[in-house]
Amino acid sequence: MKSILIIAIFFLSLPTPSFSLSQPCNKNDEKVLFQIKKSLGNPYLLASWQKTFDCCHWYSVKCNKTTGRIIALTISSGNISGQIPHEVGDLPYLKSLEFRKLANLTGEIPSAITKLTQLTILRLSWTNLSGPVPSFISQLTNLFDLDLSFNDLTGSIPPELATLPNLAGLRLDRNKLTGVIPESFGRFSGNFQYLYLSHNQLTGDVPRSLGYLNFTLIDFSRNQLTGDLSMFFGANKTIQIVDSSRNGFQFNLSEMELPASLTSLDLNHNKIYGSLPATLTGLNLQYLNVSYNRLCGKIPQGGDLQTFDNTSYFHNRCLCGLPLQACT
Ligand SMILES: *[C@@H]1O[C@H](CO)[C@@H](O)[C@H](O)[C@H]1NC(C)=O
Ligand SMILES: *[C@@H]1O[C@H](CO)[C@@H](O)[C@H](O)[C@H]1NC(C)=O
Ligand SMILES: *[C@@H]1O[C@H](CO)[C@@H](O)[C@H](O)[C@H]1NC(C)=O
Ligand SMILES: *[C@@H]1O[C@H](CO)[C@@H](O)[C@H](O)[C@H]1NC(C)=O
Ligand SMILES: *[C@@H]1O[C@H](CO)[C@@H](O)[C@H](O)[C@H]1NC(C)=O
Ligand SMILES: *[C@@H]1O[C@H](CO)[C@@H](O)[C@H](O)[C@H]1NC(C)=O
Ligand SMILES: *[C@@H]1O[C@H](CO)[C@@H](O)[C@H](O)[C@H]1NC(C)=O
Ligand SMILES: *[C@@H]1O[C@H](CO)[C@@H](O)[C@H](O)[C@H]1NC(C)=O
Ligand SMILES: *[C@@H]1O[C@H](CO)[C@@H](O)[C@H](O)[C@H]1NC(C)=O
Repeated sequence: MKSILIIAIFFLSLPTPSFSLSQPCNKNDEKVLFQIKKSLGNPYLLASWQKTFDCCHWYSVKCNKTTGRIIALTISSGNISGQIPHEVGDLPYLKSLEFRKLANLTGEIPSAITKLTQLTILRLSWTNLSGPVPSFISQLTNLFDLDLSFNDLTGSIPPELATLPNLAGLRLDRNKLTGVIPESFGRFSGNFQYLYLSHNQLTGDVPRSLGYLNFTLIDFSRNQLTGDLSMFFGANKTIQIVDSSRNGFQFNLSEMELPASLTSLDLNHNKIYGSLPATLTGLNLQYLNVSYNRLCGKIPQGGDLQTFDNTSYFHNRCLCGLPLQACT
């Protein structure tokens, strides 16, 4: 057993393993990683970052095997204190950068990341990062996945994010963001499909311009948003999941045409009035909650509507019929 271990260590520590066609780790990238390790106070999480191993084999990093350049850095779930080191900007071939589940990661999102022009994935999530959602993120035009959820970010949402041409969606949920949803968000490219803004302090009406996009998911829950949501509905829409619960939305639901794609609709705790549209019975709904609104009239009978708990419907002005009590 011991001799196997020694042989294994011997092979792992060879500078250029002869049994592999992989390039060794680029020396500049190795140097930058050592600076990052030092900036983070040599944490236990990065104990494998040692000269004796090729840096392509270190924990938390990924290399391009052809070039030996670092293409992914994922620092997650460790006891790391301090700020995101500005040296991350000096890994020019990085495609994916993640700092996740690090409660003691503080400070602001560093502008050095704008040097990472090849970045497609940026996930800074479940940390104590503070300060604004920086508008300079809009310079990272290859971004496909931008997730800044579960942090302490403040200020308003920068309208410039809408210029990111390849974004598939955006997560800014669970921060302390204020202000409105930018009008510019209606100009996201056709790739844009999901928008998570829940658990912030956003105000104002949702811009009608968002109706131009083909969303599959919106989560606006637990803000102070007002106005109406009709731009997300209509026979030709593609939306599947809508959570707009716990806001101040105020509109007449009666004439809303809910698209066949809809599988989950949560509108609880708003000021929505009118009645439940009959089109609800033609959908394949997995979840529905319209409780704590100002709805009236008979719950349409059919489809999945009677399979939901009465708490899906309770605390409205005068909804009646199964699963609530009979209409009088
Ligand atoms: C690795 O780099 C080569 C050369 O630049 C490129 O063609 C290839 O697509 C890269 N592979 C990955 C997985 O990024
Ligand atoms: C954060 O830092 C505090 C104070 O040093 C420490 O007690 C705590 O364990 C750290 N938490 C994590 C998840 O690293
Ligand atoms: C995190 O590190 C700090 C300081 O090094 C230490 O006091 C604390 O006990 C550690 N917490 C955990 C959860 O390991
Ligand atoms: C980090 O966030 C947690 C939960 O949000 C909080 O309890 C803790 O005090 C924060 N730590 C620091 C160092 O700000
Ligand atoms: C949404 O889908 C429709 C129908 O497929 C299409 O005409 C429209 O251009 C799409 N919108 C965007 C912003 O891509
Ligand atoms: C929905 O799509 C159909 C055919 O794709 C089209 O004829 C109709 O005008 C569209 N309706 C709306 C409201 O866009
Ligand atoms: C909601 O719209 C329906 C259909 O247009 C209408 O009959 C109803 O009076 C409206 N309800 C309210 C409360 O305005
Ligand atoms: C609907 O939402 C209300 C308010 O949050 C909640 O009390 C109820 O349990 C929910 N019902 C279902 C079926 O999720
Ligand atoms: C909902 O159903 C429960 C048990 O199924 C019943 O006890 C309760 O009174 C009902 N509430 C309403 C508002 O209908």
